[in-house]
Amino acid sequence: MEQLKRTADCGALRRQDAGKTVVLNGWVHRKRDHGGITFINLRDRYGITQVVVGEEAPAECSDLSVLTAELRNEYCIAVQGTVCLRPDAMVNPQMPTGEIEVAADTLVILNRSEALPFPIDEASGAREELRLKYRYLDLRSGGMQRRIRLRHEVSFAVREWMIRHGFYEIETPTFIKSTPEGARDYLVPSRLYPGKFYALPQSPQLYKQILMVAGFDKYFQIARCYRDEDARGDRQPEFTQIDIEMSFVDREDILTMTEGLLGYVFKQCLNRELPPRFTRLSYEEAQERYGTDKPDLRFEMPLQDFGPYVAAGGFQSFKDALAKGEADKQAAAAKGIRLAGGGVKALVVPGKASYSRKQIEELEAQAKIYQAQGLTWMKVAGTEAAPVLEGGVGKFFAGNAQAIISGLGAKPGDLILMAADARRKIANTALGAVRSKLGRDLGLLDPGCFALVWILDFPLFEFNETENRWEAAHHMFSAPQEQYLGSLEQDPGSVKGDLYDLVLNGYETASGSIRIHDPALQKRIFHIVGLDPQEAERKFGFLTEAFKFGAPPHGGIAPGLDRLVMLMAGETSIKEVIPFPKNSFAASPLDDSPSEVDQKQLAELHLSILRTEETKKEEMEK
Ligand code: AMO
Repeated sequence: MEQLKRTADCGALRRQDAGKTVVLNGWVHRKRDHGGITFINLRDRYGITQVVVGEEAPAECSDLSVLTAELRNEYCIAVQGTVCLRPDAMVNPQMPTGEIEVAADTLVILNRSEALPFPIDEASGAREELRLKYRYLDLRSGGMQRRIRLRHEVSFAVREWMIRHGFYEIETPTFIKSTPEGARDYLVPSRLYPGKFYALPQSPQLYKQILMVAGFDKYFQIARCYRDEDARGDRQPEFTQIDIEMSFVDREDILTMTEGLLGYVFKQCLNRELPPRFTRLSYEEAQERYGTDKPDLRFEMPLQDFGPYVAAGGFQSFKDALAKGEADKQAAAAKGIRLAGGGVKALVVPGKASYSRKQIEELEAQAKIYQAQGLTWMKVAGTEAAPVLEGGVGKFFAGNAQAIISGLGAKPGDLILMAADARRKIANTALGAVRSKLGRDLGLLDPGCFALVWILDFPLFEFNETENRWEAAHHMFSAPQEQYLGSLEQDPGSVKGDLYDLVLNGYETASGSIRIHDPALQKRIFHIVGLDPQEAERKFGFLTEAFKFGAPPHGGIAPGLDRLVMLMAGETSIKEVIPFPKNSFAASPLDDSPSEVDQKQLAELHLSILRTEETKKEEMEK
């Protein structure tokens, strides 16, 4: 039978369409037989419409009943029929098309479907590996369809806003020179140049800087990036950035631009108003208050300094942590290294004095993952007028209870958790991890709430203890703040960079910096991170060369599109917003990549595979 082309989609028909003859095309979402009447939920990208095939189908349409009987889920069909109002009792207010149904008079099977590996339903609980292997089926589910649509809408809104604000969308190459930083590069062997390789870009960083030298002072690109790093829920080997760079700007311009962009995207795509200015925290404040540079500000529960109460109390291990921290600090200072000293930090958990020992032990296990020796606790009891500390280490601080309780802002019924360490960072990080766990356990992470915070004033360098050298905390092209220009080499650890991260609900969502545009300063940075001039020339000579020709001051940022859409969709894995992601082992179960290639291809690329002993053995056994 000829193909029946659709005249309406499955989400379009309403009460006012009653009486029209329509043709729908789509997939059988569900079929229900009710004593001679068959209801088919027909689905396409736009929605679901109920189709009815009645027992009183005219004799000349007996095909209709035969075909209807054959239908199974996910058959692709065309239906012609009349739009009818549903009887009042059958109206489904949950469905946009719930007031009507289409009484079929003709049905064509466009294609049959084999038995499905899992039902097309988000709640099916299908294994991830299976979802990725049959991704085209997984993508048919309502949830995936909604999220891919959201992703499309976010990309569209980004383009609209950027273009309206004078940015050019410019593509940069995806075969570039290998200059591995942070992660490993994915390499592409060259056929024409034996033994040489292109790299896939970890980001368009160097090219966007070169575009600034080229005079394109407002650039953006929805750019594919590639990093060979270990997988995590918020990481993929192949991902997408909203890559942005601007000339003649300072940090404030980039932050304001990003606030404007995201404000527009959230309004357009989720109809949500973001605050015109996002909260700002320095890196140090974030570490001290939340124990991380990625704080989730959907709930407060800050870490507080317990240090001032230690001396008057009788708990020796707190005193020891602070004393050792101070001694280490002095010893390091003598060698010109700056350390923060020890720390005793406290976290007040409102109303959780009822926590059992077991619950506290679970929190302690979390703290220990982050190298804390343990987690100390006490409970606030008594009355508001006369509160007391009890349980755990409470007795050691009984003498000073009033001052501690009011200083920490605690109330009777609250639990106080504490972490102490000779390295302040460990006390902060471990208690910060406890805070995050409490956020999850206490249901404080509302996926419908969007807490954005800028983290500013990052250190420019981090000390790599394994390699015993300074390295760039972000990348080597980020500028130090001006006041440190005189002392870069003397005290790299204290230099703050013109760097910024945007954190959304505890995830680093964007990252950027004001760049170095002065070749002499760039050389100093290469020197501090131990890159000798020849190596710097070999790796980045093309960039430093460009800087010699009137490079403008510039800076930029790159929000991760996948992470942004993931958070907007209320998800916790970026795979949920990427049409064809890799699995946790960087493989694609859909097309079975990475795969072996034949000898001819290898030979053309001047490559041969080094077989390990293990693979040789496996081959022998075959
Ligand atoms: P950075 O490396 O911080 O900065 O990356 C910027 C943003 O990209 C996202 N992102 C990722 N998303 C998914 N999977 C990954 N493996 C992954 N890695 C990073 C994050 C992150 O905040 N060139 C600089 C930006 C700049 O300075 O302008 C850069 O790439 O959301």
